[in-house]
Amino acid sequence: MNIIVFIVLTFLGAVSSSPPLKYDSIISFGDSLADTGNFYLSGALAFPAIGKLPYGETFFHRPTGRCSNGRLIVDFIAEAYGLPYLPPYLALAKGKKSERGVNFAVAGATALDANLFYDRGIGQILWTNDSLSIQLGWFNKIKSTLCSNKEDCAEYFERCLFLVGEIGGNDYNYPFFVGGTIKQLKTLVPLVVQTIAAAISMLIEEGAVELLVPGNLPIGCNAVYLTLFGTTNKAAYDQNGCLKEYNAFSEYHNSQLKLALEILRHKYPHAKISYADYYGAAKKFFHAPHHYGFFEGALVTCCGGGGPYNFNNSARCGESGSKACLDPTSFANWDGIHLTESAYRHIVMGLLNGPFTSPPLTFSPIKPF
Ligand SMILES: *[C@@H]1O[C@H](CO)[C@@H](O)[C@H](O)[C@H]1NC(C)=O
Ligand SMILES: *[C@@H]1O[C@H](CO)[C@@H](O)[C@H](O)[C@H]1NC(C)=O
Repeated sequence: MNIIVFIVLTFLGAVSSSPPLKYDSIISFGDSLADTGNFYLSGALAFPAIGKLPYGETFFHRPTGRCSNGRLIVDFIAEAYGLPYLPPYLALAKGKKSERGVNFAVAGATALDANLFYDRGIGQILWTNDSLSIQLGWFNKIKSTLCSNKEDCAEYFERCLFLVGEIGGNDYNYPFFVGGTIKQLKTLVPLVVQTIAAAISMLIEEGAVELLVPGNLPIGCNAVYLTLFGTTNKAAYDQNGCLKEYNAFSEYHNSQLKLALEILRHKYPHAKISYADYYGAAKKFFHAPHHYGFFEGALVTCCGGGGPYNFNNSARCGESGSKACLDPTSFANWDGIHLTESAYRHIVMGLLNGPFTSPPLTFSPIKPF
């Protein structure tokens, strides 16, 4: 009896003196897959429809600047760890603290600096110039509101989950949409991956310890790619109706990214750098959409202006000539480029409960999915 009491007390003692068993905050960088309002707050000139319904209709019941009908991957991760939805950086009043997380992601953002696209003559199609380095600059700007000196910052950032991406998808989207070939764009991959790796190094040197780095989605299953690059050649499609070569391109980027992460793990053995396999997690519902409740299939969009995949570049979601479906939970694709809240939820389930985060995150979600 006494021994049991002793063991229980010792165990309780050990628990109470160990660090908290969860993240205290999340800091996020990336593009429209993670943006909770920065693009919208910066004017959204390239896509004003983001500021109107049906964007946001399902969960927030108003447009928030999220490129979906509801919550995004980063929102579900915040929920899982009992944290508030991350405020977009641009919504923070000057000098205001946001101790439980900040989101620097901007819809349309690229990993590479915007001037690189201007140099190549395609700068004018960028939705935003707020590339990864601009987002890192914002992070540096508000760092002093989160912690005061090196020691204090180290302690704060140690309990913070850094979500670095998804970023890089747009570096390929823009050139693909204006006629870039897969062969040409493969030459861009090392540059994009190096840029992401450099951002991770910088964050670790600032004190980040735990980082979750997502790869790209299977773009060959994306309605905009299926519409723009559709062909009568059946051999171009896989069994799920996705464009094989474009999915192979995503896999190529992801494999390069994973190699870069492996190098960073050796360089920074104290840090925990996890790869988030968005591709693998999404592939599951592209493969068996009905199993995930996507009774309309996973390729046709909920919100659009007609065409075989309900993506019409002249009538995009929210623009005149488009309309949203009645039941977004039966669709994986929201507007052609972005996924529905339901699809993002399935991805997060795959990341937090399934095999798609490697190595797994240190803490288990406090709210199970
Ligand atoms: C991006 O920068 C270029 C060159 O400085 C400028 O002309 C353009 O208006 C900017 N685009 C946006 C969306 O801010
Ligand atoms: C695409 O949208 C335009 C503008 O609303 C419309 O004229 C056209 O018929 C639509 N295309 C398809 C395939 O529905």
